[in-house]
Amino acid sequence: MLFYFSGTGNTRWAAETLARATGEQLLFIPEEQQGRCEYALAEGERIGFVFPTHGWQPPRIVRNFIKKMHIDHAEGHYCYALTTCGDSIGVTMDILNGDLRKAGLPEASSLFSLVMPESYVCLPFMYTDTPEKEQRKLAVAAEQLKAYAELIVNKKEGEVHIRKGPLPWVMSHIVGSYFNGKMVTDKKFTVDSEACIHCGRCVSACPTGAVTFFEEQTSEDLHNNAFTHSHNFDGLPVWHHDGSCTCCLACYHHCPKHAINYGKITRRRGQYYFGHTLSN
Ligand SMILES: Cc1cc2nc3c(=O)[nH]c(=O)nc-3n(C[C@H](O)[C@H](O)[C@H](O)COP(=O)(O)O)c2cc1C
Repeated sequence: MLFYFSGTGNTRWAAETLARATGEQLLFIPEEQQGRCEYALAEGERIGFVFPTHGWQPPRIVRNFIKKMHIDHAEGHYCYALTTCGDSIGVTMDILNGDLRKAGLPEASSLFSLVMPESYVCLPFMYTDTPEKEQRKLAVAAEQLKAYAELIVNKKEGEVHIRKGPLPWVMSHIVGSYFNGKMVTDKKFTVDSEACIHCGRCVSACPTGAVTFFEEQTSEDLHNNAFTHSHNFDGLPVWHHDGSCTCCLACYHHCPKHAINYGKITRRRGQYYFGHTLSN
């Protein structure tokens, strides 16, 4: 059983590759968290967690899911984790294992990171990679993933292949805690109404259903804080401000007109999603 989250597709590629190698079920956390989050394992089945690093921590949606989930008789099952990142992960895996311990689940004994194209562009010093760098990262990641898949298929314990980067504890617990506490918010998304072509790609790319098209609201809708969904995308995208957005930037990166921005800072930034690039 492999639980995964992905915004711009890097991690989906890694998760799908691992699920093919192990022959085990692939479960998308945003869909799973809508249900009971109760699972039973087949004999000898592995438990995998595969997710992008967000602010040197596992994304909030992954941490909340682990708090909620229950796996029957999980003890003794092989557990592994893989995170994709643009550069480094700090102590993301210690945080993950702390969450698993608190939830009464087995800790991941084998830990992997894959450096992949950068998706975070909302700070002054953060840019997408050049197309050349993206290609280099993807080629190395493909080789590494092949090797990691073999270790996972053979249930190798204690394999640790991660890039923590400098000051890992500080980056995760000080910088990362501030980042995930204060900067993971959908309140800064804007839409350029003249550039938007109402194609709805932002809505279909969003993994958590945090953005929909806004048509018109009746006074009753306004009173109930409810959105009227437009089926033909006549209006403009709106973010719900209800905590469902993980700031994965799938909406920003998939917009074919670069009409979606995060504050002013991303107006001149590149766009990327797995399988496609629109770089700076
Ligand atoms: C909100 C956010 C925070 C990020 N934080 C980090 C980070 O702390 N370290 C890092 O190396 N990459 C970071 N990245 C880059 C992503 O981890 C990386 O591009 C990842 O492969 C994206 O996976 P996805 O395409 O499955 O969403 C961040 C990206 C986002 C959107």
